Amino acid sequence: MYLKKKILDAVKDDLTKIEQALAHNLNPHFELVRRVAGHLLFAGGKRLRPLLMVLTARLCGYKGKRSAADFAAIFEYLHAATLLHDDVVDGGQLRRGQAAAHQVWDPPTAVLTGDFLLARSLSLAAATGLPEVISVIANITELMSQGEIRQLAHKGDVNLSEDDYMDVIRCKTAVLFRGACQVGALIAGAPGPQTASLADYGFHLGIAFQMADDLLDYTQDTAVLGKPAGADLREGKLTLPVIYTLQRATPADRQWMVGLIQRQEFSAAEFGGLLGLLERYGGVAYTRECAARHIQNAKDTLRQFGPWPERDTLLDIVDYAWSRAA
Ligand code: IPE
Ligand code: IPE
Ligand code: MG
Ligand code: MG
Repeated sequence: MYLKKKILDAVKDDLTKIEQALAHNLNPHFELVRRVAGHLLFAGGKRLRPLLMVLTARLCGYKGKRSAADFAAIFEYLHAATLLHDDVVDGGQLRRGQAAAHQVWDPPTAVLTGDFLLARSLSLAAATGLPEVISVIANITELMSQGEIRQLAHKGDVNLSEDDYMDVIRCKTAVLFRGACQVGALIAGAPGPQTASLADYGFHLGIAFQMADDLLDYTQDTAVLGKPAGADLREGKLTLPVIYTLQRATPADRQWMVGLIQRQEFSAAEFGGLLGLLERYGGVAYTRECAARHIQNAKDTLRQFGPWPERDTLLDIVDYAWSRAA
């Protein structure tokens, strides 16, 4: 895909530095921790969050001695920690195209390795010497855990509202994107309004990114996704396309959907039938419209920056986050 290649070409050196930083800053004391953390960390992954931090730092003129990529590991470690925990909570089998860590080892090992990665990310945050950065990371971890808990509490809840959904995705996804962009600006010593704009950029990007993820779960193949398609429904996780459709379906269609959601098991034909309803009642189109609004908001926040290459890449990332295939 052209857009992906364009972004990858623009950030090739950054990605190399991020990979090096991820290997270099891990510092586990135990071989098992290194193996479990490495299993997820070095299995691919788009590296979107650390990349956002590096790009926003450079856009704001970061000139620190330590490379921004080094600090950017904060965001991939934190992300990886939440993925390890998330797969235990969701019973996720596949992550980044391979068996989830709790399947290869066991849930306690995956949870404790997640704790270690979370701690590494906090240590790196402290190494910036900036209390604001530590406070941003602390706030992210607080909100993300609450987002996951709220989602768990609503598991299988067919009356979940759009507001509840927005609250969950804000906490579990958007605050991490926001934090990565905010910290990029903070380590560069950017003025308050610039920092706030980049934080808003990350926030809207994160919302659109999660909405795209929730659509892909219905529209994309497992092989391309690297995690099982249809997993949300199987996990009793109601996302916007389904919430919207449930509210508009005829009583008969709604009842059929509720039955499927409560069983948490379905054939390929039933899944196809559900997708048909999501399209017919406009759940898919509505999710696209909502994401489009956040995409526009994200782009608007970048207006105040000059035509720097970093700004253009950040704009491309917004389009990519939405049009991506996985
Ligand atoms: C997965 O994030 C979790 C969500 C917020 C949907 P990514 O899609 O960025 O996963 P990786 O890092 O590329 O594996
Ligand atoms: C996003 O939640 C992951 C976290 C923010 C921890 P999901 O449960 O929707 O993500 P996937 O679909 O497993 O990647
Ligand atoms: Mg989850
Ligand atoms: Mg999950």
